[in-house]
Amino acid sequence: MPNSPVFAHTPATLHQLLAQLNQLPHTTQFFVLVDENTSHHCLPIIAHHLPQPYHTITLPSGESNKNINNVQYIWQQFLMQNADRQSIVIILGGGVLGDMSAFAASTYKRGIKFIHIPTTLLAMTDAAIGGKTAINFGDFKNVIGNFTPAYQTIIAPFFLKTLPFVQLLNGFAETIKHALICDKNMFEKLPKNNTFFQTQDINFDWLMPSVQIKQHIVNHDFTEQNQRKLLNYGHTIGHAVESHFLTTTNPLLHGEAIAIGMIIENFLAEHLQILSPNDAHTANNFIASHYRHILRTIHYQNLEKYLLQDKKNQKTNINFSLIASIGSAVYDQFATPQQIQFAITQYNQYVGQMT
Ligand SMILES: NC(=O)c1ccc[n+]([C@@H]2O[C@H](COP(=O)([O-])OP(=O)(O)OC[C@H]3O[C@@H](n4cnc5c(N)ncnc54)[C@H](O)[C@@H]3O)[C@@H](O)[C@H]2O)c1
Repeated sequence: MPNSPVFAHTPATLHQLLAQLNQLPHTTQFFVLVDENTSHHCLPIIAHHLPQPYHTITLPSGESNKNINNVQYIWQQFLMQNADRQSIVIILGGGVLGDMSAFAASTYKRGIKFIHIPTTLLAMTDAAIGGKTAINFGDFKNVIGNFTPAYQTIIAPFFLKTLPFVQLLNGFAETIKHALICDKNMFEKLPKNNTFFQTQDINFDWLMPSVQIKQHIVNHDFTEQNQRKLLNYGHTIGHAVESHFLTTTNPLLHGEAIAIGMIIENFLAEHLQILSPNDAHTANNFIASHYRHILRTIHYQNLEKYLLQDKKNQKTNINFSLIASIGSAVYDQFATPQQIQFAITQYNQYVGQMT
């Protein structure tokens, strides 16, 4: 079972936590993995407090770099520095670096310990919690990976100060998801527009509850046999949308694709009479109030090959987790291609009415 994440609200607290790593018995070496942005924005904040000496491995940023070539690069660096199973890997970055580096660490010499220090909102509330590692392969998102819990996850919200607005909004989609599947009260308290991201105050009061929802679910079902599937809400369509647009000149960020996925899946849930029209309307208007600018027309044909890839499907029926009301959700709901096409048509009309 994964360890609960630790919060470090100030750099001083984070420095204390890092100092404790020096006391870990038998540790041979430390590796710090960063991407080209976190090496500039985040590493300097902790560099003098990391266990010395350490090896830095810098990776290119961006979803298209979450691939086997970069995993091989990490493995090569580990080998060159004689990393062994007593080495510790510290991953300082967003979900792309986190998923890929955790995969590299979890497979090198049958697994070496890694610590997540997420630096994006999406990674703090989602990707760095729950032990899913992954890379993309071929055209398919996260198709190679495993379940390996991090040795520790440290959430330090002050890293968000340098995160661009678009990336804050990207991460907020997963918080909306957590509220919609689990917590009506939290949903009602979420900010109704995104002007709050433009302030310098990054101590969002919904951040810790969002982390706790994810942690609570994965604690009860680490390997996704049952209730962890609820976290896939918005992701069946969302991953297909993300995968498709990654092959175009107009890609979407993960959270943006999930926002589209949640709206389409709400129309689907309404069509399947799982979700009331009233709740579907409330949820969709809330999501649209934050993501209106990225909503775009979707064609079922572009998503089909990705939807059919899902191993949880039954023949051509696609497996979904859907909300049943604001704050509750159900998993293992199956829909036919025709029902999905109907939901996409509803979504396209909804988006059309906005312009
Ligand atoms: N493992 C899981 O359970 C899980 C869950 C959700 C999403 N994911 C994965 O997470 C990935 C998306 O992660 P993401 O949204 O964090 O994207 P990301 O890692 O690409 O980070 C976004 C951008 O912000 C930059 N950045 C990171 N921290 C920064 C900081 N503090 N200041 C300035 N710039 C900074 C990065 O270099 C990058 O350019 C996707 O690949 C998705 O599949 C995984």
